[in-house]
Amino acid sequence: MNPKHFLLLLPLVLTLCLTTTATTTAPKGFSRLGDKLKFPNMTLEHLDPTLPPVLPGQTPRCSVLVLQHDFANTIGAPPAAANYSQPPDCPAPWTRIVLELSVSASAIQKDRIAAIWIDGVEVLRTTTPVPMSPGAFWKVTKDITRYASAVRRLADYNGVVSMMLENSNTELPGVYSASISIHFYRGAVSTNPNSFSTHPTIKGLYKEPADLIIPVTNENGFNKAGFWFTIQNEADTVATSIQIPTNTYRAVLELFVSYHGDDEFWYNNPLRSSYLDKTSNPKLSTPRTNGAFRQVFAAIDGKFVGGHIPIVVIYPGSINPFFWSPVAAIAAFDMPSYDLDITPFLGMLLDGRPHEFSFGVHDSQPYWLVGANLHVWVDVWSDVTQAGLMDYNAPPLKVNRNAAWRNQDGQSEIDAEGLLRFIGWVSSSKGNLTTVVRQKIKFKSQVEVQNRGAVKQVEMINKGRMTVALMKGNQGLARVQLMVDAPMQVQTSSVNTASGAVFQKTRLYHQLQEIVELSEGQAVSVATLTDRQDADGSALLHEGEAVWGNGATRSSYKFRDDTTCYIRAVNTAGGLVQFDTTSGSCLKLGEEGKRSAS
Ligand SMILES: *[C@@H]1O[C@H](CO)[C@@H](O)[C@H](O)[C@H]1NC(C)=O
Ligand SMILES: *[C@@H]1O[C@H](CO)[C@@H](O)[C@H](O)[C@H]1NC(C)=O
Ligand SMILES: *[C@@H]1O[C@H](CO)[C@@H](O)[C@H](O)[C@H]1NC(C)=O
Repeated sequence: MNPKHFLLLLPLVLTLCLTTTATTTAPKGFSRLGDKLKFPNMTLEHLDPTLPPVLPGQTPRCSVLVLQHDFANTIGAPPAAANYSQPPDCPAPWTRIVLELSVSASAIQKDRIAAIWIDGVEVLRTTTPVPMSPGAFWKVTKDITRYASAVRRLADYNGVVSMMLENSNTELPGVYSASISIHFYRGAVSTNPNSFSTHPTIKGLYKEPADLIIPVTNENGFNKAGFWFTIQNEADTVATSIQIPTNTYRAVLELFVSYHGDDEFWYNNPLRSSYLDKTSNPKLSTPRTNGAFRQVFAAIDGKFVGGHIPIVVIYPGSINPFFWSPVAAIAAFDMPSYDLDITPFLGMLLDGRPHEFSFGVHDSQPYWLVGANLHVWVDVWSDVTQAGLMDYNAPPLKVNRNAAWRNQDGQSEIDAEGLLRFIGWVSSSKGNLTTVVRQKIKFKSQVEVQNRGAVKQVEMINKGRMTVALMKGNQGLARVQLMVDAPMQVQTSSVNTASGAVFQKTRLYHQLQEIVELSEGQAVSVATLTDRQDADGSALLHEGEAVWGNGATRSSYKFRDDTTCYIRAVNTAGGLVQFDTTSGSCLKLGEEGKRSAS
């Protein structure tokens, strides 16, 4: 994205209009090009149309401005860091903790990845929008109650909050000014104590936040590279040593991932026959032809303990940057993290010694940024707990790859299916309890190219079901099931213009649905989130960068649990919000759904 090219490209765009009449209508919104040069009357505030304000109508007990930093030329620089001190009149415990990140851009800039750590514990992975105008700004709020023990440690021991955002002013002038605040709440704050719903991903797997969170990250995090590990390719694994308390009775490994460089658009990659032919040495193949399948996984002392196929998060500069101005793509402001319940493996970890935790990304290309938090619950009534693995059933995913290409045109498909089961017991003051972890994965990616490369269709099915059950003997005590369904479709048609630029029309459908079912004895509660976006528009690409474009995006976000129903619908077009409606009632919600569908 480089709007400074607008001037240079004016003649090019005019040529385009003259030469494409046979193939496409002159791009709608073309007249806005003139405005663009003077910076258009576009909405400066970028928004993420998801959850309502975390705690509407409630005043925090205190709010602390933690860090303020201008990110100008920060490539290769260590994270920005600030010492923390808790206001004495705002002591723990807190019923809710909310993180607020506010950012503004001084001028046009590319989209960037950023993360925030509390004493090395990652609490947010986020992307910046593509600021198309000086003064673009946005805010990300996230319920971080799940990380309460890390925040408490921060408050008790004057810890450090750090943020990394690698930005550069060599090409574009935009400087990102960020400020981080933490809001602390006390008293009754939620009608549903079972779900401290993170934003926008609902996890709700664990009622009480962990007693301790151990960063499973780059040890030299405060130095240049930051806390995240860089994974270069599928042969690369990264590892660190972790020691956990000997009285742990439950442990959950939370993975954060983002993809960059050759893998920034991995979900769009065709699987080229040439790549298949060279599987013995895939690195010889051209990048970006290895298909649209990735799996991030973790191992302890070399033993595989679980993995996830990441949900696609479309970065603001991706597919068509004009789709994402001023609305953020699903989960782009608050990228999902992935939980692996490793309680069945505690038997390997309770000896009071360090153990190796390692990560990798199957089929990856340069490069992925991966980090993890180990959430640990300890038994204060015991000095040591005991544990043992009873069943380990982890066959590799069944992956089928098919490709049929003739020159540019053809089709490829990757199917993946898998079923995992880990069972382990932990004996603590709570008794000898068994944890059963089951995961089912169903994935399909299809890429089709026609008309000598001019028409491309990408389709993805990504479904997962994760069940964690707690048993005492044969008796079920509690069970939580998380079902995720994240389909995506992208259709693109391109026309080469006489001047060498490419005019591209794109249509996108993307959805993230998550259903969490929690049962304890007779009580069952269900929470459903459906986040959907439909977008279409065009862009003019010069050397792969969008230099002109338009886009319209319809976003709808629906959250429902036993007590709440919330919907938000936002339509944006041409850089402006056309409407933004919210409703706290499911009845109204149905009507609105009908109206917008007709
Ligand atoms: C710019 O937007 C504002 C607010 O939406 C509106 O009041 C104003 O008329 C717009 N100006 C132009 C030139 O379109
Ligand atoms: C934090 O405090 C330590 C000493 O307590 C000091 O050396 C360091 O410079 C401080 N860091 C910042 C960012 O102020
Ligand atoms: C806990 O139960 C499992 C079987 O359910 C058994 O194998 C294990 O020995 C028990 N552990 C203790 C400490 O009793």
